[in-house]
Amino acid sequence: MAAVIEVEDLHYTYRDGTRALQGLSLSIPAGSRVALLGPNGAGKSTFLLHLNGLYLPQRGKVRVMGQEVNARTAREIKSRVGLVFQDPDDQVFSSTVGEDVAFGPVNMGLSATEVERRVQEALAAVQMEAYRDKPPYHLSYGQKKRVAIAGVLAMGPEIIVLDEPMAYLDPQGKDTLLDILDRLHRRGATILVATHDVDMAASWADRVIIIKNGRTLAQGDPSLLVQEDIIRQANLRFPLVAQIFRSLPELQLKTVPYTVEQAAALLKDILAGHRV
Ligand SMILES: Nc1ncnc2c1ncn2[C@@H]1O[C@H](COP(=O)(O)OP(=O)(O)O)[C@@H](O)[C@H]1O
Ligand SMILES: [Mg+2]
Repeated sequence: MAAVIEVEDLHYTYRDGTRALQGLSLSIPAGSRVALLGPNGAGKSTFLLHLNGLYLPQRGKVRVMGQEVNARTAREIKSRVGLVFQDPDDQVFSSTVGEDVAFGPVNMGLSATEVERRVQEALAAVQMEAYRDKPPYHLSYGQKKRVAIAGVLAMGPEIIVLDEPMAYLDPQGKDTLLDILDRLHRRGATILVATHDVDMAASWADRVIIIKNGRTLAQGDPSLLVQEDIIRQANLRFPLVAQIFRSLPELQLKTVPYTVEQAAALLKDILAGHRV
């Protein structure tokens, strides 16, 4: 499948000399659900800020839907890539929830009726319609996070990028967010999520990219999450499902399951007497 995001030898050094990205290369297929993993300080957020032109490559290339990100294209690319920051307080700033979600569509120059339609739809998607006239500073962190997501949804981006969206969400909030992401994915969006949550990555992603020290350590399907050397190098841990089966060496498994579905299929097999 065609790549919607292509990154080649990307370098980024902050003003204080911190080399956050040191030759990052990766590619993301259209319509995929990608988990971007890596230890703190690996360069995840720095990379994500390049995807909608907030940062421009100092060296190397970033292409979004075939278009190279540079000073000339940054504005257009921004409207095609929705970035949800890690901290909603960096994103949600209007005096009411409704105005905040309308901000992007209004700036896109859409008609008042179209803005209204998009605001309603986006607030419904994150189940925040009842909060439309409230000031965002009265909301809980998780609610603000949902407003930030609604603001991005309202712009109708083809690529949606979320920086550690699960942080500080309660279990139900996480489920709601996963439902929202699934709905967007079914509509054809490509979704990229930076996360530390290997269980979420194992169950949700169809592609995994692991970065460390500003470079790509590995990219491929989620079975990377049960490769011991990669997990160790990336300061990650095995998904819980995989941990159970790794604690049972007597099963002599060649491949360890990492999703609930894989584990259930294996257990059925074992119970039916086909194994061990
Ligand atoms: N504004 C900044 N100024 C200087 N250094 C920064 C800044 N933002 C991030 N860094 C540094 O860049 C590196 C990568 O950070 P970041 O992209 O936030 O990693 P991650 O999101 O994977 O935790 C880290 O060493 C971090 O301390
Ligand atoms: Mg970060």
